[in-house]
Amino acid sequence: MSHELPIDTTKPSIARVYDFALGGKDNFEVDRAVFNKMIGIDPNMPTVARLHRDWSRKVTRWLTESVGIDQFVDCGSGLPTMDNTHEVAQRSNPEALVVYVDNDPTVIAHGRALLEDNDRTVFIDADLRDPDAVFLHDRVHGFLDMERPIGLIQGATIHHISDLAEQQALMRRYVDYLPSGSYVALTHVHNPRDGSELDRMASGIEEAYRTTNATTRFKTYDEILTLFDGLEFVDPGLVPLHRWWPGGPLTGKEPTIYGMVIGGIARKP
Ligand SMILES: C[S@@+](CC[C@H](N)C(=O)[O-])C[C@H]1O[C@@H](n2cnc3c(N)ncnc32)[C@H](O)[C@@H]1O
Repeated sequence: MSHELPIDTTKPSIARVYDFALGGKDNFEVDRAVFNKMIGIDPNMPTVARLHRDWSRKVTRWLTESVGIDQFVDCGSGLPTMDNTHEVAQRSNPEALVVYVDNDPTVIAHGRALLEDNDRTVFIDADLRDPDAVFLHDRVHGFLDMERPIGLIQGATIHHISDLAEQQALMRRYVDYLPSGSYVALTHVHNPRDGSELDRMASGIEEAYRTTNATTRFKTYDEILTLFDGLEFVDPGLVPLHRWWPGGPLTGKEPTIYGMVIGGIARKP
């Protein structure tokens, strides 16, 4: 599917809010206002965004170097930033293939040229809620070898689908596409909904998200866990992102807000 939507600078775009959070330049006042509201809830929010990016980098590097994955589908790629998935993967294995998927008009306008910087990288304008549109896309079909393991990255994407049953069904469809030995790396915004400090903060951030172009529903730990059904977790399982570190967890102070985004990597048997 291809469409040319105009870039709306009057409504915050989740891709541009995230770009601002990471120190990028492809954002407008409306986007900055959303993230500044989040910073008002917790000044550690820029670190939370950076931890997310670090997680993607660590995961891509680990999958490439330690598992030998050499083809990736990065759903909801976002605006190009430092160390995009193909740069990280191809640094370890120059032969690695990467398919980027996004449907935000700003990402489409700025992303394609920067993300497709060699013939082993493809950017497609597709709706990630439709795995057929991703895997059967004419630029993907034949580009990826569907007989060999794939690394599917769903970094802060699936939480844009509100309904848990819909999320579960979607992830099942993705996993059905993946060959055995493939890996799913997924992060999701988390609210324990237990009256805790994290609950209060996450509810405030959720409210700020609500003003953007993408609905975003925070979920409990157990709900997010179900998105990995049928897969085998890599240690340490589903955890706050700064704890996902193949060489052992990071030590030091952990602000409460770090628990607001959790993720895991799991293998399809
Ligand atoms: C918060 S950003 C995450 C960026 C990147 N995955 C990362 O981890 O750094 C979410 C991205 O998902 C994209 N997105 C949201 N819903 C989408 C959909 N239905 N189809 C394609 N992309 C979508 C947004 O445009 C945005 O770029």
